[in-house]
Amino acid sequence: MRSPSEVVFFDDTIPALQMLQRIFKLFIVTNQQGIAEGKLTPEEVDGVHEFILGRLAQFGIQIEQVYCCPHRRADGCECIKPNLFFLQEAERAHGIDLRGSFVFGDHPHDVEFARKAGATGIYLLTGHGVKHCAELQADVPIAANLWEAASAAVKGCDIRKRPEELGDEITQAAAILRQGGVVAFPTETVYGLGANAFDAGAVARVFEIKQRPRFDPLIVHVADQAHAESVVSSFPEKAKALAQRFWPGPLTLVLPKSDYVPGIVTAGLSSVAVRMPDHPKALALIREAGIPLAAPSANPFGRISPTRADHVRKHLGEQVDMVIDGGPCQWGIESTVISLAGEEPALLRLGALPMDEVTRVMGREMRLNTNAAHPSAPGQLPQHYAPRTPLVLRKDAHWRPNEERVGLLCFRSPHASEGFAAVEVLSPTGDLREAAANLFAMLHRLDAMNLDSIVTEYVPDKGLGLAINDRIRRAIMSGVGAETERNYPG
Ligand code: TXA
Ligand code: MG
Repeated sequence: MRSPSEVVFFDDTIPALQMLQRIFKLFIVTNQQGIAEGKLTPEEVDGVHEFILGRLAQFGIQIEQVYCCPHRRADGCECIKPNLFFLQEAERAHGIDLRGSFVFGDHPHDVEFARKAGATGIYLLTGHGVKHCAELQADVPIAANLWEAASAAVKGCDIRKRPEELGDEITQAAAILRQGGVVAFPTETVYGLGANAFDAGAVARVFEIKQRPRFDPLIVHVADQAHAESVVSSFPEKAKALAQRFWPGPLTLVLPKSDYVPGIVTAGLSSVAVRMPDHPKALALIREAGIPLAAPSANPFGRISPTRADHVRKHLGEQVDMVIDGGPCQWGIESTVISLAGEEPALLRLGALPMDEVTRVMGREMRLNTNAAHPSAPGQLPQHYAPRTPLVLRKDAHWRPNEERVGLLCFRSPHASEGFAAVEVLSPTGDLREAAANLFAMLHRLDAMNLDSIVTEYVPDKGLGLAINDRIRRAIMSGVGAETERNYPG
């Protein structure tokens, strides 16, 4: 190629390289025999390379180095592919682990080059097509395009150094995720049901297991800021300020989505929800898997969220490939969801974040859109978090429905608990944090007792109490109008 005007990028080049560079360092290794043959000048070749690097840089893609052999094969130079010269150079100068590396190329030399270095070569059909396929060994992976090759590398890579504290459990779970499996994992809010966010098939399984309607998008969980930026197309300043203050933590940001997050993750929306969970096992898992995890809460759709590994095992059990036990969740209530994808910032879900801190960072107060007919987030249906047992609001401190076996879920120690078959107290001392952490676990416990109904009450409507009351309200709504409830999935 003589001039930049001849360079053509495939549609998938940019997203594939963006995905790859989250995990890999990127290099170009090229043989340009035309230089030795006098058909091209070194300046022309440099000009093309500069153009390509500049274009990729516009998309945040950094190529560590372009290695170019200008000789003829007959010259017997050391640097022509498939000789290892440049790979060894990269190993030495950039600390590359060749055994964990990949070479993508459209010529059998590239695959041979990889094999000799102990790396994995993937043959691409985008260049010479099937022309050279017959020259390949039978076990050489062949990809239709760069995206397919990049996905395979990201799913199959096993190159990141394992932190010392990482147990076998995390390694095993990460391998399951890379192979398209589904793993339930702990976060500081509730347990999540995770799959590789780049693997539409794996994400489809999450929807099936949860019996979640496809119009309800998932949160993409990441382990660092760079990871987060790889799934969005822009990261506005306000979002950065929130992320800086609250990540890792119970903040979910809805931002414009990058093209290569599959539509199934975002239910076809042009925005994507991203969050960096604050749990050592969740972070270790995402890092070890090397991919962002699309994960909803690990409960059947519409039901109570899980705050213990046992809740997941009981309700989703066999369908999940693995459940990582991280003990009881610290917050017990989901993340706060804030959208910065629209014209105005919007609070889509109340959650574990302190809203006065959010107000301080945002420089303005944000209120939840409580219009039930038009939920602000697709998943914010008025009915949610439902126990199977009808949940009703306590009319006054002495009220009890006229039924045999009634449970009571109250905020502080109850004034009148006589006659109830079971009593759960969210926080005897009136601590809202303790109440949030106990809410779902206590609902799960009461729901397992075959009661006729459960009576509950609101907690003080301030701080975390706002999010707790939101959950209680939705759980009660689920029991209002038997028809609505019966038709409700999950
Ligand atoms: O704390 C949490 O956020 C937990 C843990 C596992 O991270 N996850 C969780 O996920 O609660 P899920 O799927 O149960 O709730 C995600 C909420 C839903 O209300 C969904 O509709 C909303 O986030 N959401 C996701 N993507 C969105 C988008 N692009 N635009 C608007 N809302 C979105
Ligand atoms: Mg949920």
